[in-house]
Amino acid sequence: MAGVKTLTVVGSGTMGHGIGQLAAMRGIDVRVFDVDAAALDRAKAGVRTSLDRFVKKGTLSPQESDDVLGRMSFVSDLAKAAGGAEVIVEAVPEVLELKQKVFTDLDAIADPGTLLATNTSQLSITAIASATEHPERVVGMHFFNPPVMMRLVEIIRGTLTSDDMLERTVALAEQLGKESIVCQRDTPGFITTRAIMALRLECIRIYEEGIASMEDLDKAMRLAFNHPMGQFELNDYNGLDIALQGSRNLREAYGERFAPPPSLVARVAAGRLGRKTGGGWFDYPSE
Ligand SMILES: NC(=O)c1ccc[n+]([C@@H]2O[C@H](COP(=O)([O-])OP(=O)(O)OC[C@H]3O[C@@H](n4cnc5c(N)ncnc54)[C@H](O)[C@@H]3O)[C@@H](O)[C@H]2O)c1
Repeated sequence: MAGVKTLTVVGSGTMGHGIGQLAAMRGIDVRVFDVDAAALDRAKAGVRTSLDRFVKKGTLSPQESDDVLGRMSFVSDLAKAAGGAEVIVEAVPEVLELKQKVFTDLDAIADPGTLLATNTSQLSITAIASATEHPERVVGMHFFNPPVMMRLVEIIRGTLTSDDMLERTVALAEQLGKESIVCQRDTPGFITTRAIMALRLECIRIYEEGIASMEDLDKAMRLAFNHPMGQFELNDYNGLDIALQGSRNLREAYGERFAPPPSLVARVAAGRLGRKTGGGWFDYPSE
């Protein structure tokens, strides 16, 4: 198979611009769309900064870096961005109603054969697809941050996703140089979010029970299991509020084993959300 030649990203934030850059680095013509013109400017600047790093490291030549940017266009008109694309990857904020609205619009604009992928971390693919006339072409394509570096793509089959679209998604992940796994049932947290939340919540409980310090728990994850970071340190990066929301969503689906630990609830109530607020599990006074 020739592979994908044109890909559109909808939502140019943290994930969207990275997914676009990744595709352009693999020779695909990319259009990046956002409702916010300032976000498009930031996306372009973010891609340039990232490409500069590759050039500095010697992984890309200056010419190759220019070529990657040359394959990317940053567009503020959805019809222009989405029309004619072989694949569209949605990366707008994690709000079901917002994603449904975007998919209704994309379904109307995109060519009939276009694969519609969502980068949601935990919303139901089936619920997002229900906003379209063609739910069989909607697939979960969960990239990790930052998409150009992280090796895995988690692919999720919605209840009505066709085998053909799923196979095309697996092939696309390979074309993008990624390893993939397939979550065969559209269940809350899929594979990765469910597994990492179980580990995170258990680490918090061990700490709450006075069995070990947060420092020792992080050390255990790093040195016993070769994780690059412990769960407390990592959670300070990605936000205690996100963890609390994830825990509540998973509790609703799977019961008390995912119930939010009191120390997590208390920190979020106190506004200690992680590095972004100067402290979460640990303190970051200079940030
Ligand atoms: N940040 C992560 O580490 C991460 C990792 C994996 C998956 N995700 C998922 O990726 C998705 C995007 O997350 P993010 O962190 O990139 O968010 P973000 O807030 O950085 O970016 C979202 C972008 O979408 C734009 N947007 C809002 N409404 C839009 C619309 N109707 N049409 C087009 N653009 C619109 C915003 O202007 C913004 O630029 C979410 O579903 C999130 O759960 C995030």
